[in-house]
Amino acid sequence: MRIEGKSIILTGASSGIGRALVSPLVKRGAVLTIAARRGERLAEVAREAAERYPDSPPPVAVACDVTDGTAVSSLVGGAVERLGDVDVLINNAGVSAFGEEARTSVDDYRDVMEVNFYGALACMREVLPFMVRRGEGLIVNVLSVAALHGVPYLSAYCASKSALLAVSESIRAELADSGVRVMLVYPGYTDSEIFDVEKRVGGARRPPGTYAPADIVAQRIVRAIEVGSGDLFLTMRGRALSVLRGLAPPVVERAMRKIARELRCPDEPAGERGDEEGGSES
Ligand SMILES: NC(=O)c1ccc[n+]([C@@H]2O[C@H](COP(=O)([O-])OP(=O)(O)OC[C@H]3O[C@@H](n4cnc5c(N)ncnc54)[C@H](OP(=O)(O)O)[C@@H]3O)[C@@H](O)[C@H]2O)c1
Repeated sequence: MRIEGKSIILTGASSGIGRALVSPLVKRGAVLTIAARRGERLAEVAREAAERYPDSPPPVAVACDVTDGTAVSSLVGGAVERLGDVDVLINNAGVSAFGEEARTSVDDYRDVMEVNFYGALACMREVLPFMVRRGEGLIVNVLSVAALHGVPYLSAYCASKSALLAVSESIRAELADSGVRVMLVYPGYTDSEIFDVEKRVGGARRPPGTYAPADIVAQRIVRAIEVGSGDLFLTMRGRALSVLRGLAPPVVERAMRKIARELRCPDEPAGERGDEEGGSES
């Protein structure tokens, strides 16, 4: 896909992978609408990209909480009004919760599902009628390796990402002849704010991790959009998991039990915000 001139909505653009996607997309001439809750931060991201690439259309920043259906409608409605269409939706906004399943409340599950699943679903449902009518469009759903198999101490996060995976596959099959494509992205550990702001319910500790720079992850996503490749695995570990879970489930189960044992820490307290370095493959 030639990105120049394409109307692209990107959620979760105020930090991490989303923020890192803005520059390469603007550089290529995308007509970007960027969204997240922190409006000031978003405006700064838009300003930076516009200054850096003055010959490209400046991104339009829209403060939007994806859990608010009305806000999502006006995000998409505004983009359609301004630009006539939405060519690409990048569902990137996401949150995480970390810790023992037994300490994860039903409200914790709901909070994560609201953003990662229902928020992404709402965005898709808003853009799909336009895309289907036109007979073209691309949905890029940023999932996680944790969508492929339940990972210890990430139960709510896994539930949200695997739910989004399932719906994405349903939509992809149903729209196979419509001209609308769905691309799934599976990042591994990536340097971002997600580990700082996630809900920590306690009972386990995040392992020290090696993080991919968000810029590199973003470059690869943009390249995959351009090339029109299939689903994108950003780590060997993710690709291996996708193969092994079908071919050798006991191997995957053993690995998950090992991770659970290594990270178990009954004394680990709960906390609203992360207070240590390190992360698992969110
Ligand atoms: N980092 C990793 O290791 C990793 C691995 C696999 C997958 N991922 C996925 O990658 C995506 C991006 O995450 P990240 O790692 O870049 O984390 P991040 O730096 O925390 O970015 C998350 C983005 O989502 C936005 N967001 C959160 N709740 C929102 C809401 N209710 N409405 C609108 N926007 C909301 C945040 O902006 P505001 O706070 O301003 O709303 C922020 O811009 C997520 O879907 C995540 O699950 C990350």
